[in-house]
Amino acid sequence: ARKIIIDTDPGIDDAMAIFFAFQAPQLEVLGLTTTFGNVSVDLATQNAITLTEIAKVDVPVAKGVAVPSVIAPRPHPDFVHGADGFGNIDWPAPQGQAVEQSAAQFIVDAVRANPGEVTIVALGPLGNLAKALELDPEVANLVDEVVLMGGTAIEYGNVSPVAEANIMNDPHAADKVFTASWQVTMIGLDVTHQVLLGNTVLERIREANPTEGGFLYDCAQHYINFYSSRFDMEGCYFHDASTIAYLMEPSIFGVELGAVRVACEGIGIGQTIFAPEGMTFPEPHWTDVPMTQVCMEVDSDKLLKLFETTLS
Ligand code: BDR
Ligand code: CA
Repeated sequence: ARKIIIDTDPGIDDAMAIFFAFQAPQLEVLGLTTTFGNVSVDLATQNAITLTEIAKVDVPVAKGVAVPSVIAPRPHPDFVHGADGFGNIDWPAPQGQAVEQSAAQFIVDAVRANPGEVTIVALGPLGNLAKALELDPEVANLVDEVVLMGGTAIEYGNVSPVAEANIMNDPHAADKVFTASWQVTMIGLDVTHQVLLGNTVLERIREANPTEGGFLYDCAQHYINFYSSRFDMEGCYFHDASTIAYLMEPSIFGVELGAVRVACEGIGIGQTIFAPEGMTFPEPHWTDVPMTQVCMEVDSDKLLKLFETTLS
């Protein structure tokens, strides 16, 4: 199985992604590393531990960064994920504890112990990945791939006309991740806005798998209500769990290659700017930028089927 570390800010769609990964026979989850984002890093860490306890898996959780690397923190979006990150369902606190290592150290150690074999799946702001690169720059050459949910190439943003939330929460860290020498695959709003997860699918998963499915269904109600009140849609966008589907079944996605950089200030802050492969620009910000694989297309039916069958 492919070894992955999931860097996360659970988060309702993070919970979907994590249970999906635990159940995927193609994947072996080495650990969960946490970051601020949907909630504080302390709550994200508790929530990650809760998910391992619900799923009854022995997967270590390492706590990561509490604030963005340069900019001031933005408020946590409790109107999207609830104040508890799980849609205000009043779930009891977990029994377990995080490991001693920081998230960045956990990433470095796991990558060093399995050179060339570890994929980092990033579902939140990218501070832990940037820190890991700082601790040990060689990590960029020892990771198999970085698959991240974040950004948008041509679709509108979700926190500004051009910015997606995970990138906006730490644009400087994101720019480091996109310009390091590892292979990055970006799964942003270009594809996640093409997939709508509704209660019909969630109800079927709950019936087949009351433990994980029941929990996800309960959490998702707050999330789905947010989308229906804000955008008049029935269901929620399938953000974070798309990364897991990509690792299991990459053929579901259509990918374009290009350079990606992140605007770190001004009115366009948080924008992932995409320059398709083959376009060259003399401006220094655009010379020698590594190629990112940017997902542009997705087969929504196949994706939702894969999610449902894996979790059922
Ligand atoms: C991303 O932001 C968070 O709210 C979600 O968990 C997802 O990672 C979507 O923009
Ligand atoms: Ca997330």
